[in-house]
Amino acid sequence: MAILDILHYPDPRLRTRAAPVAQVDDRIRRLAADMLETMYHAPGVGLAATQVNVHERVIVVDVSPEHNDPRCYVNPVVIAKEGEEEMEEGCLSVPGVFDTVRRAEKIRMRALDLQGQPLELDADGLLAVCIQHEIDHLDGKLFVDYLSGLKRDRIRKKLAKAAL
Ligand code: NI
Repeated sequence: MAILDILHYPDPRLRTRAAPVAQVDDRIRRLAADMLETMYHAPGVGLAATQVNVHERVIVVDVSPEHNDPRCYVNPVVIAKEGEEEMEEGCLSVPGVFDTVRRAEKIRMRALDLQGQPLELDADGLLAVCIQHEIDHLDGKLFVDYLSGLKRDRIRKKLAKAAL
């Protein structure tokens, strides 16, 4: 396994729309394992392949308090949403920035597991937020896109300065 480099906002590569995975094979399983290691090392509760500059539809999440519930989803799609809730979010690609985002409270997701088997998952709370956040990454979208333009400008300047 390997720790991968995480792209930071406003890197334009974070705007790439990821392609569906055609076949869940050893290459994808290795990618998922590397993404989990990268996520735990950061540390964070979720990571999308886009963030490690691989533009295929793979996400990993672990929202458990003990960090012992790794989940990997391939080609994840939200097929139903219910309710709304606001939660403070952060992102490994936008270090040091936290802000409130409104998302669906409950979701049903369809995806493939690492054996290529289809699955459906009902999620709420932090897991639902995290899955929606990571799927956004696969579509080239970041949580700061939900904030006002003024806030986003401030964040972009702050991170540009930090990158020097
Ligand atoms: Ni993120």
